[in-house]
Amino acid sequence: MTIKISGTGRALPEHKVTNQKLQELVETSDEWIRERTGIGERRISTGDTVVSLAAEACRKALEMAGKAASEVELILVATCSPEYLLPCCACQVQSIIGAVHGAAFDLNAACAGFLFGLDTAYAYLQSGLYKNALIVGSEVLSKLVDWKDRSTCVLFGDGAGAVFVETVPEELICDNGRKAGIEAILQGADGAKGGILSCQERPVQNAFLTEQEMPDSYVHMNGQEVYKFAVKKVPACIQAALEKAGLTVEDIDLFLLHQANERIIRSVAKRLKADLSKFPMNLQRVGNMSSATIPVLLDELNRDGRIQKGDRLVLSGFGAGLTYGATVLVWG
Ligand code: UT7
Repeated sequence: MTIKISGTGRALPEHKVTNQKLQELVETSDEWIRERTGIGERRISTGDTVVSLAAEACRKALEMAGKAASEVELILVATCSPEYLLPCCACQVQSIIGAVHGAAFDLNAACAGFLFGLDTAYAYLQSGLYKNALIVGSEVLSKLVDWKDRSTCVLFGDGAGAVFVETVPEELICDNGRKAGIEAILQGADGAKGGILSCQERPVQNAFLTEQEMPDSYVHMNGQEVYKFAVKKVPACIQAALEKAGLTVEDIDLFLLHQANERIIRSVAKRLKADLSKFPMNLQRVGNMSSATIPVLLDELNRDGRIQKGDRLVLSGFGAGLTYGATVLVWG
């Protein structure tokens, strides 16, 4: 049996916002943003929602996989920016695409959410409970950032990426002799550091409490602390996942990292002693889309023919929580 990704898709809002445009909103510069982050522009919703973007990405992933929506058995939407708390985004996506037989729920592991979703789906498929799943990372972070806060509003973008994974009964051995499928998963969290990247929803409030002030509901971040966490944790987590799989850095063809900051990605490559050319990036064009970064990058590479059967990939991310994870897989 093999569990393989047989379709990918992405959806981005049309509206591009350049660094120059942001200079009109906050005291910043194209030079500062590029130097500190690598980001040049991002897509910002002018009406797209987490659900509409997720549904479009799912349709494209299904089309590539040659599957009908009615065949989908599980839909997982990873998001930290839903428009509704109830119903969850996955149920809304199920309805829009017509995946009437699919179980559906959301999960939130912030920027590592897509990875955690992929791992969750893998565990379901491995157990035999379901034979296929759609996993989506979808975010409209533009509604959670304070557009007067230059330390956060320049970083994020909106978008969605999806994959369709399925179980095939036979073992898929690629031309290079590698067996397709997921080889290792490592997930972790450091909840004690949760305060360094947060966004509060409603506090406890009810008819039995005296009225309190509502907190603001913007993203607050200690960028330097998140940076320090990422440059240490991501390489350590990748190394641990590789060890689990009995592999080394040299065995990996591509590292698809969470697209938060070019400096973080360069630092991870350096710490792993891996060639930077193995770390594709798209953050220059789309910014940090949280849970959507990895599946959007995966779809870009897949559609551009830059991932071949038998390639061994590491997907790795980190995010609010703080959460982190790495997944090693052979593309089939
Ligand atoms: O998905 C996970 C999401 N989070 C992350 O990945 C965040 C990881 N951290 C980072 O990427 C970096 O810490 C940032 C890009 C957020 C910030 O870069 P930094 O090199 O750590 O800058 P800093 O926070 O130390 O700020 C340096 C200076 C400060 O001014 P002073 O105090 O030195 O006068 C900031 O006020 O840069 C100032 N600054 C800005 N200046 C122009 C902060 N934001 C901006 C801005 N434009 N947009």
